[in-house]
Amino acid sequence: ALDMSQITSKLSTLGLSHPPTFPGVLLHTEYNPVDIYRAYIIEQIHKTTDVEPAIINNALAWTQDLKHGDLVLPVPALRLKGKKPDELAIEIAENFECPIIEKPTVDKTFVRFFFKPGPLATLTLKYTLQHKAQYGFNPRLGLEDPSKPGSKRKRLVVEYSSPNIAKEFHTGHLRSTIIGGFLTKLYAAAGWETISMNYLGDWGKQYGVLSQGFEKYGSEEELERDPIKHLNEVYVKINQDHAAEQKDAKKLFEKKDELEKLKKPPPPKKPAKGKVAEAPPPHQWSDEQESELQDVCAQLEKVRAELVAKPSIDEKARQFFKRMVDGDKEALKYWQKFRDLSIEAYKLMYARLNIAFDDYNGESTVKESDMDKMAEILEKKGLSEPSEGAVMVDLKKHGAPKLGITLVKKTDGTSLYLTRDLAANYERYEKYQFDRMIYVIASQQDVHVAQFFKVLELMGSPYEEVVKNCEHITFGMVKDPKGQTMSTRKGTVVSLADSLDSAKEFMHGVMKGNAEKYEQVENPEETADTLAISAIMVQDYSGKMINGYNFDMERMTSFEGDTGPYLQYSHARVCSMERKAGVPRSELENADFTLIVGVKEGVELVRCLAQWPDVFLNAYKTREPITVLTYLFKMTHLLSSCYDAKDVGNKNAKTMSVMYADSAEKKAALMGLYNASRQVLANGMRLLGLKPVERM
Ligand code: ARG
Repeated sequence: ALDMSQITSKLSTLGLSHPPTFPGVLLHTEYNPVDIYRAYIIEQIHKTTDVEPAIINNALAWTQDLKHGDLVLPVPALRLKGKKPDELAIEIAENFECPIIEKPTVDKTFVRFFFKPGPLATLTLKYTLQHKAQYGFNPRLGLEDPSKPGSKRKRLVVEYSSPNIAKEFHTGHLRSTIIGGFLTKLYAAAGWETISMNYLGDWGKQYGVLSQGFEKYGSEEELERDPIKHLNEVYVKINQDHAAEQKDAKKLFEKKDELEKLKKPPPPKKPAKGKVAEAPPPHQWSDEQESELQDVCAQLEKVRAELVAKPSIDEKARQFFKRMVDGDKEALKYWQKFRDLSIEAYKLMYARLNIAFDDYNGESTVKESDMDKMAEILEKKGLSEPSEGAVMVDLKKHGAPKLGITLVKKTDGTSLYLTRDLAANYERYEKYQFDRMIYVIASQQDVHVAQFFKVLELMGSPYEEVVKNCEHITFGMVKDPKGQTMSTRKGTVVSLADSLDSAKEFMHGVMKGNAEKYEQVENPEETADTLAISAIMVQDYSGKMINGYNFDMERMTSFEGDTGPYLQYSHARVCSMERKAGVPRSELENADFTLIVGVKEGVELVRCLAQWPDVFLNAYKTREPITVLTYLFKMTHLLSSCYDAKDVGNKNAKTMSVMYADSAEKKAALMGLYNASRQVLANGMRLLGLKPVERM
């Protein structure tokens, strides 16, 4: 936490004692400069109204737009009976006295507080310079008791990404990865202990399909080189065979149906009321048609016989998977290899995205015994029932009419996706004793998640208590630039590696456009990759999570507009200025920041920087990356308007950028402001999972 002695001594020179504290009001004055203001404002409002400090604190709101004040009090929120809010607002404003806050303005029932620029600049920049990479974050929020600094940290498990080993890593998985990465960083910045968990789709009949495919089309060499791509190719090929196999039989069945319909004369039409029935048209069924039907039936017989002699891919896959479940070494041989190589490849991709998982598990690691136990409880509690050899839970009968019926066991006794989720939920609790668990899963699976949450709830203690601390964070679909759904079948699914690579290529090209700068970038390949990933992530964050978006390479890689490359550019630009200015850290720390107040844009920027800890708090509430992103764009726009802003107090109208030519003092103050802005930008970017670049 911050060394408060510097701050309090500063406050005492302004005629203020140590910021007051109030029982039942949790202010974080060591982390958040605005909380100092809150303390004094609460004191003043309490003086006039006698309202409880906790109520005043809850009523005080931060503003989206600084022209409405740095903090605002909607008077009705004080819940004071008997007084007209507009009259009370005037009374509060008139009685208000604080040397670091302007006389409040009254706007109907709102009291608006504007912080005096000089002290605000001093306080805010001191906080950013001291907290550095921690400025804005609040490690107390994740404590069991935030009012007790030594209290235990709460533990959060976040399950995200969770790709399927055989299939392509598609944009849905990418989105889960990006959002999950953000959530773990958000909670960690709030002091939680976080565990990143990857629940691989690594079990099920499709591995029986894949293994057959590998025997037919696989290559060990290509598997080693690019396992994800190769396995996907193999999987696509064998599935085409599978489809072809089924198509032959399906066609024959269709033909047979059609002919049989023709053979049977259509039922006579019912006459309309009061009318005599018309004579039916003469029925036609030729000898040729009869022989065609015979032929189709014979062919179908042959296909059937073939299937018995040589089982279909589907049937073989089912048998193969059964052997895997039973622990057959031969059957598991390939599977283990596919899994290991895929994880290696995923790790490289995750590193590019600034993400590392603490726990790789998957559907395969869910214990059969745990699933059996689940099935037993379901049966004992009368929740499950047999259904044509399988076992199902009819949620309609258990207070969830919208959730329908869900299978928990197949006819052959093998488990299902849902059953694995049931067992995995409690296994995770046993392993981590988490306070909370978040599943980041696409909205296509909303029903699935609602179903398994509901079943766990119905199962009673201890499952019911555990699932109460679980939450599904859902997100919308990524579509192609024209707004079309991307699918494997249509071949439009953008694979992660492919989209990362093409975005990287593009950014590399842009960088090369400025030869002089390009020369100075130490590792251009790496920088291009970082820029590309920023582009993709920022695009993902540009709306609420629940909304889908179109994957638009051209737009996201642009430097114009609110894009990832724009944020990176803003960061690199300040870095470059700092390198040129070369003001030593000690000078920044001791600078007189009140020198900034002459420039309107500088003051706006300071006010914006002071809001960052409150923005973080708000993001912790909304858990929407857009909350952070919107702020960062607002802040960088203010920052860029500073570069050529005029010093209002100066007749010679100097720009802020050349202000530092005036004197060493002004230069230090200005560079302190830029340093703080860069720090806040970098902190926000890191929270979003972006790696800020210093040159580009
Ligand atoms: N592997 C699944 C898929 O790609 C996602 C897993 C989501 N997590 C879960 N616990 N069901 O569709």
